[in-house]
Amino acid sequence: MTSLLLLHLLLLSLFHHNHSLSTAVNIHRKDQFRPEPISNLATKKPTTTTTFFEVTKTIQVPKTNPCSYLLLQHDFGFTYGNPPVLANYTPPTNCPSQNFDKIILQWEATCKGTQFDRIFGVWLGGVELLRSCTAEPTASGIIWTVKKDITRYYSLLMNNQTLAVFLGNLVNDIYTGVYHVNLTVHFYPSEVNSGNSVFGYGSLADLILPISQNVLMNDGLWFRIDNSDDAESKKFMVPQNAYRAVLEVYVSFHENDEFWYINLPNNLSNSHENGAFREVVVTLDGVEIGAIWPFTVIYTGGFNPLLWSPITGIGSFDLPSYDIEVTPFLGTILDGNTHEFAFSVTNALNVWLIDANLHVWLDKKSVKTEGQLLKHYVSPAVVSLVSNITGINGNIFTTANKFVSSVGWVKSSLGTITTNSTQRFDFSNFMVLGKDGNLQIVNQTINFNDSVHAEFPSSFFSIQSSKRFPLYLYLETVDKGNQTSSSLTNLTLGYDEQRAEAGDFGLFGSSLKNLQNGQGVLLQKGNSVYAGTGSTQQAYQYDDSKFCYFRNVRSSNYAILHDEEGKTCSK
Ligand SMILES: *[C@@H]1O[C@H](CO)[C@@H](O)[C@H](O)[C@H]1NC(C)=O
Ligand SMILES: *[C@@H]1O[C@H](CO)[C@@H](O)[C@H](O)[C@H]1NC(C)=O
Ligand SMILES: *[C@@H]1O[C@H](CO)[C@@H](O)[C@H](O)[C@H]1NC(C)=O
Ligand SMILES: *[C@@H]1O[C@H](CO)[C@@H](O)[C@H](O)[C@H]1NC(C)=O
Ligand SMILES: *[C@@H]1O[C@H](CO)[C@@H](O)[C@H](O)[C@H]1NC(C)=O
Ligand SMILES: *[C@@H]1O[C@H](CO)[C@@H](O)[C@H](O)[C@H]1NC(C)=O
Ligand SMILES: *[C@@H]1O[C@H](CO)[C@@H](O)[C@H](O)[C@H]1NC(C)=O
Ligand SMILES: *[C@@H]1O[C@H](CO)[C@@H](O)[C@H](O)[C@H]1NC(C)=O
Ligand SMILES: *[C@@H]1O[C@H](CO)[C@@H](O)[C@H](O)[C@H]1NC(C)=O
Repeated sequence: MTSLLLLHLLLLSLFHHNHSLSTAVNIHRKDQFRPEPISNLATKKPTTTTTFFEVTKTIQVPKTNPCSYLLLQHDFGFTYGNPPVLANYTPPTNCPSQNFDKIILQWEATCKGTQFDRIFGVWLGGVELLRSCTAEPTASGIIWTVKKDITRYYSLLMNNQTLAVFLGNLVNDIYTGVYHVNLTVHFYPSEVNSGNSVFGYGSLADLILPISQNVLMNDGLWFRIDNSDDAESKKFMVPQNAYRAVLEVYVSFHENDEFWYINLPNNLSNSHENGAFREVVVTLDGVEIGAIWPFTVIYTGGFNPLLWSPITGIGSFDLPSYDIEVTPFLGTILDGNTHEFAFSVTNALNVWLIDANLHVWLDKKSVKTEGQLLKHYVSPAVVSLVSNITGINGNIFTTANKFVSSVGWVKSSLGTITTNSTQRFDFSNFMVLGKDGNLQIVNQTINFNDSVHAEFPSSFFSIQSSKRFPLYLYLETVDKGNQTSSSLTNLTLGYDEQRAEAGDFGLFGSSLKNLQNGQGVLLQKGNSVYAGTGSTQQAYQYDDSKFCYFRNVRSSNYAILHDEEGKTCSK
C-alpha cells in the first residue's frame, strides 16, 4: 500500500510540487521505482566513509601548476524553497599567467545520515556550468568529487560574475542528510605562451549568453516544463557582428517523468503516463530549429539505490548537455532586436528542468555581419505504436524517427561561410508487460546523430557525432504476503558516441563506449526497504588515438570487487 503522506513527502522533497497527486495507479507504482533512501538498511551497511564516483575519463591537463580558488563553501541543509546560494566570482587576476589551457570546476561534497538524491545546478552569470545529482548518504557518511572541464566557458570565466548554486534539500527527523560542499575552480596556465589564439569555428566562443531564468526566490534558474502544452521562453539579443552561434541545452526529468521510458500509453493506464516517447523541442521566434532526444540518466536513488553505490549511473554526476547549431539562423537574429528561444517537451509530465547557454563567436574585424537562412526542413517526429495488450499483459512497441536540416550563410571578415546543420533521430522502445502488472521489461535504443558542415571560401570545418543510448530494464515485483514484496531490477545502460572533427587542421576522431550492467533486489514492507542487494559492472572505453582511457569496475553493496584502469591505447 502506498502511504500518501510518504509519497507526498517524497515528491515534495525533490521539487516544489503544485498539483494534486494522481491516485489511480494500476500497473505502475512509482514509489517502487523511487524507493525510500536506504541508509538504515540492516544488512550490508558500510561502517566507514564510502566514496561514490561516476566512471569517466580523467581530464588531461597541462604540466603547469594550476591557480586554484575556493568559489563557495556551503552546507545545504533545509534549502528547499530558498533562492540559490550566491557568491561573487572574479577571474584569477593574481595568477602569474593569464592564458589558460584548461579550466576545471570541482565539486566536493560529504553527507551523513538519510537523504534522497537531489538535483542541483551551478550557474555563472546565469550560464549553467554543471547539472548533477547528489549521492544518497549512509549512516557512516559518504564523500564524492565531480570534476568537470569548463574550458569551453572561457570568455565567461574571464569576467566578474555572480555564481549561483541551487540544491533543493529537505531536512527533518527522517531525512537527516545535510550536504557539505566545497566548490573550487582550477586554472591551468598554458604550457607554451601561445595564448588562446585559435580563430574561427574550432575556437572557444567569445560570448556566452544565459538562456535561463533570472534568480528566483525559491528555485534554480531552470525553466520548468510541467506538461506537453507548456513552453518556456527567454528573450535575448546577439551582437550584430556574430558569425557563429551554438545553443547548448541542459535537460533533466523528475517526479512523474523521472522514468519516462517505462511510461505506458494512456489507453493502458488510468493515470495519464503519455507513453514512453519524449523529445525536447527548441524553437527560435516560434520556428523549430532542433530537438533533443535525451539520454536516460538514472539518478542515484533510481530503481534500487544499491545499484548506484558507490558506482553511480552514467551521466548522473555530470548530466550531458546537447549542442544545437544556430549559425544557419544567424541572419534572422543579427538585426539588433530581441529574439526568443522557447523549450517544450512532447508528451511531458511534470517535471522537466531545462535551460541553455548561447555560445556566440564575434567578428573582431567588423561591427556588422550579415546572413541568410537558405533552407530549413523539419520532419516532425513520426511516432508509431503497436501493441497486443489483453487485460494488462502483452507487448507494446513504440518507434519514432526525425530529421532536421538547416542551411544558411553568414558573411563576415572571414568571408562568406555556408553552414549546413543536420540532426537525425531514431527511437525504439519495446516493452513487455506480464504477470498481471508485476513484470515490465523495457528494451529501448535512441540514436542521436548530428552534423555541422561549414564551407569557407577556401577551406571547411565539420563536426559529426553519432550517439547511441541503449537501455534494458527488467523490473519484477513479487508479493511475499504479509504486506511485504520483493522488487528485482536488472538493467543495462549505455552511452556510446563516435565523434569526428575535420578541417584545415586535419581530422580528429574519438570513440566512447560506456556500458553499465546492474542487478538488484529490494525487499520492502509497505514503503520501507528492510533488506536489499545491488551489484554493478561497468566497462568504459575512450579512444581518440592521442589519448585513451579505459576502466572496468565491479561493485556489490557499497564494496568494490574489481577495479582496473588504463591509459594506453590498445591498437
Ligand atoms: C572544504 O574545505 C574545508 C577547508 O579546506 C575542509 O575543512 C572541508 O573538509 C572541505 N569539505 C569538503 C566537503 O570537501
Ligand atoms: C571585479 O571585481 C573585483 C573585486 O570585487 C574588483 O576589484 C574589480 O574592479 C572588478 N572588475 C571589473 C572589471 O568590474
Ligand atoms: C491503445 O492504442 C494503441 C495505439 O493506438 C492500440 O494499438 C491498442 O490496441 C490500444 N489498446 C487498447 C487496450 O485500447
Ligand atoms: C503479443 O505478441 C507476442 C509476439 O509478438 C506474443 O509472444 C505474446 O504472447 C502476445 N501477447 C498477448 C497478450 O497476446
Ligand atoms: C546538408 O547535409 C545533409 C547531411 O549531410 C545533406 O543530406 C544535405 O544534402 C546537405 N544540404 C546542403 C544544402 O548542402
Ligand atoms: C547514426 O549513425 C550511426 C553510425 O554512423 C548509424 O549506424 C545510425 O544508423 C545513424 N542513425 C541515424 C538515426 O541516423
Ligand atoms: C534489445 O533489442 C535489440 C534489438 O532492438 C536486441 O538486439 C537486443 O538483444 C535486445 N536486448 C535484450 C536484452 O533483449
Ligand atoms: C507479518 O509481519 C508482522 C510484522 O512485521 C510479523 O510480526 C508477523 O510475524 C508476520 N507474519 C508472517 C506470517 O510472516
Ligand atoms: C537478474 O540478474 C541476476 C544476477 O545476475 C540473475 O541471476 C537473474 O537471472 C537475472 N534475472 C533476469 C530476469 O534477467
